[in-house]
Amino acid sequence: MNQDQKRVCPVERAGHLDSKIRRWVQDPRKILSPYVKAGMTVLDQGCGPGFFTMDLAQMVGSTGQVIASDLQAGMLAKLRAKIQGTEWEQRIRLHQCTESRIGLNEPMDFVLCFYMVHEVPDQIAFFQELWTLLKSGGQVLIAEPPFHVSKAAFGRMLEKARAVGFKPTAQPRVFLSKTTLLKKE
Ligand SMILES: C[S@@+](CC[C@H](N)C(=O)[O-])C[C@H]1O[C@@H](n2cnc3c(N)ncnc32)[C@H](O)[C@@H]1O
Repeated sequence: MNQDQKRVCPVERAGHLDSKIRRWVQDPRKILSPYVKAGMTVLDQGCGPGFFTMDLAQMVGSTGQVIASDLQAGMLAKLRAKIQGTEWEQRIRLHQCTESRIGLNEPMDFVLCFYMVHEVPDQIAFFQELWTLLKSGGQVLIAEPPFHVSKAAFGRMLEKARAVGFKPTAQPRVFLSKTTLLKKE
């Protein structure tokens, strides 16, 4: 196992990410409804077991689509088990990326990167790929865990996003998170 793989949240911790208690303190609807509208194509990058994915699917409606992407097959398997045989299967596409490449082509309206950017080994390359994926006017919401990501590390991450061309437009308040909303203008 290399250094980067060590930083990735293990599948065994998926239960902590997908708990009822978390829904009380990080309500997906409250966090995402300012940005996600019906008909949008949305990427849930580093989706894990899909804590945000079904709410995203509900928000984009029958005319939109959610692509739930993660590098770990085990995380995607947990999400697959939740949506299999439900109406969400039509709206949610599962995608296994690699640690260095998202590997999608469709233009996105919105990308959610929740508690995942600090696990990405090459953040500049990551932001460059997000830039090419996003439609003009598209937005990325990044939330990072405050205990794992220092103020300085979050600042460095923001600098990389700026260097690629993203404009930070807000710092939405999300419990237990350092956040930034990035826009491609
Ligand atoms: C802490 S979990 C957060 C999961 C989910 N976003 C949430 O908030 O519940 C981080 C997730 O990012 C994924 N991940 C880590 N590095 C990644 C990368 N380079 N590309 C895509 N996913 C990655 C991990 O496999 C893990 O599922």
